[in-house]
Amino acid sequence: MSIGNTSILRAVDIYGEYVVSPLLSVKAVTNVILHMNSGEIVGIAGESGCGKSTLVKILYGYIEPSLRVRGRVLLNIDDGTIDLLSVDEEYKRGRIWWRYISYIPQNSMNILNPYMRVGDHFTELLKKHLNLEKDEAIRVAGEYVEDLGLRKDVLKAFPHQLSGGMRQRIVVALSLLLKPRVIFADEPTTAVDVVLQKVLLQYLLDKQKEYGSTLIIVTHDMSIHAMATERIIVMYAGHVVEEAPTELFYEDPKHPYSRALINSLPRLGDKGIRQGLAGQPPSLINPPPGCRFHPRCPYSMDICRREEPPINKYENGWRVKCWLYVKR
Ligand SMILES: Nc1ncnc2c1ncn2[C@@H]1O[C@H](COP(=O)(O)OP(=O)(O)OP(=O)(O)O)[C@@H](O)[C@H]1O
Ligand SMILES: [Mg+2]
Repeated sequence: MSIGNTSILRAVDIYGEYVVSPLLSVKAVTNVILHMNSGEIVGIAGESGCGKSTLVKILYGYIEPSLRVRGRVLLNIDDGTIDLLSVDEEYKRGRIWWRYISYIPQNSMNILNPYMRVGDHFTELLKKHLNLEKDEAIRVAGEYVEDLGLRKDVLKAFPHQLSGGMRQRIVVALSLLLKPRVIFADEPTTAVDVVLQKVLLQYLLDKQKEYGSTLIIVTHDMSIHAMATERIIVMYAGHVVEEAPTELFYEDPKHPYSRALINSLPRLGDKGIRQGLAGQPPSLINPPPGCRFHPRCPYSMDICRREEPPINKYENGWRVKCWLYVKR
């Protein structure tokens, strides 16, 4: 549950493009403005390739060399507010990442050092940020891995000696270790079996509650958003097209893309497979003009093909980027 609506992180006019060659770039995230409140659980939804992971990486302040970024990501820390896109990486590594904000990436192997034993990942963080002695750090690490159903011996292993599911548990444990204020979980359960999916999700939710952290869950699985999140952000082709309180959103989604996403969810009594949304998101090298959803939209009008829709704002922070809601 939310413990308040003080903003902890604000993204202002975010734009991110991958420069593939001097003449080619992928406009993965365009014109994104959003905020995260203290203690809330936010979902980021959208089909594959819509820019969810790119947005999350930018919000975490992790910028790959090929990604060109504009805008500001303002994070509140103990002694003020910093812009994660303008402070240097050394400062983020030393002071911010893991401690204030943590990140469970889509591929857990990405953040484990293949040359370091699993336990050393824990002890290094605990020593650096909390000044714990080695023995105490090992004890704390053991508690975390046991909480996630692993034996303490895994701390002695190297990452490649573990199964994908075990590694994912380790990364989840590491992401929670320093009780961060903001936790980004990018498809935290997609690569694991159904039983582990439930265990990991519940663990994240329990810890979020215990620490009062803000949890951002990225997944294309609309049933996870319905079950776990309080607020939902829907992305389509690099844009945020709808943002709403989750409960209200599922009763009455406004954007035609959101409606299609919800309609693809299985319902009780379904005999066959539900019809998904026809077609695919556009290439972001050369996105369509106007509304990026117009080629797939059943309500597409003339203006949708020509002009980018504005963001319409409603009560409860509900926002929809669609021409259907513009009074003309
Ligand atoms: N390193 C990269 N270099 C070039 N293009 C990239 C890179 N990473 C992602 N992209 C492209 O950027 C766009 C957004 O990708 P992103 O991974 O953010 O989407 P996503 O919504 O997370 O998708 P998925 O659900 O498959 O994880 C896609 O067109 C993708 O092909
Ligand atoms: Mg992704």
